[in-house]
Amino acid sequence: MSTLDLSDRNLLSTLDLSVDEVREVVELALEIKHGAHRPDFRGRVAALLFFNPSVRTRLSSEAAISRFGGSAVAFHAGKDTWNFECRDGVVMDGATQEHVRELAPVISRMSDVVGIRKSELITVGNADAGVTSDYRELKRDEFLHAFAEHAEVPVINLESNTWHPMQGLADAMTMVEALGDPRGRKYVLTWAWHPKSLPVATPHSQLLAAADLGMDVTILRPDGWSLDQEVVAAARSRAEALGGGVRESDDVEAAYRGAHVVCAKAWGSLDYYGRFAEEAHAKRVLREGWIVDAAKMARTDGARFLHCLPVRRNVVVADAVLDGPWSAVKDEAENRLWTAAAIYVAMLGGGR
Ligand code: CP
Repeated sequence: MSTLDLSDRNLLSTLDLSVDEVREVVELALEIKHGAHRPDFRGRVAALLFFNPSVRTRLSSEAAISRFGGSAVAFHAGKDTWNFECRDGVVMDGATQEHVRELAPVISRMSDVVGIRKSELITVGNADAGVTSDYRELKRDEFLHAFAEHAEVPVINLESNTWHPMQGLADAMTMVEALGDPRGRKYVLTWAWHPKSLPVATPHSQLLAAADLGMDVTILRPDGWSLDQEVVAAARSRAEALGGGVRESDDVEAAYRGAHVVCAKAWGSLDYYGRFAEEAHAKRVLREGWIVDAAKMARTDGARFLHCLPVRRNVVVADAVLDGPWSAVKDEAENRLWTAAAIYVAMLGGGR
């Protein structure tokens, strides 16, 4: 029986959980998946606020509570709701009608846990986005943190500009399932070409997942597409404490050789952040060399292939990999359900 208690905590960043807590979540999720632990969420409600589209995150967040007796209410912000304000002291005579200072406590009093997905670039990574070009500003995840400050129940980040903690936990669970103890095993997080400039939240949390398992991590990316160096440093510190490590490389051949896990993700350049036309021009030569294909996977040590989904076939990864023996993407997606259930147990209690 897990003793992990997150009842007075939020999960806003992947770094909000210690390495030991990540392991506890994964163990609990495995117990739930295999029927050794049955959560009891009767009478409990999850409120889920989505500013962006979702399949896996929304369904897993809803199903994880409903399958065990609770219920979920999901809103699409701005469509099902008022437009929300999070800045203090603002004169609200524009497009926003409700402030998080009221919104967060009101939602809290009608629910037991709140999930929020809000990423400025998740669907609009192009020159038409009209978003700030300052990654440091977006990195503050202002709405999420303001909401959490005024909430009276635990808040879960369902993907922000900086982190996607629930994806990281599902990846960690999938690697434990595939490898047993992944400590010291070779993990490659490979950048992939994509027509849009996607956010860095998911690769950040995926990087941390491998680091928290003590893996030998290579971030494989072209020059100019480094992840946030604060995140890389945190991951390195956590991996090294477990005997693993984190290096960055643009050597595709060497990175794949002997790998046990290849995780692909497209992300936008922080160097070009907001200058999407310039970025598109710079990356036009990268399209061919960075796709995950069967030839690259053949150099690995029978690696499992991970991708958070959705994925563009034959752009990010070839059919032969997704449909071949390497692919663990369906297990990875399913594990979103079990890790969400584990987080709810830790936040809401309940279970037998
Ligand atoms: N991986 C993931 O978060 O999927 P969705 O965007 O469909 O929720």
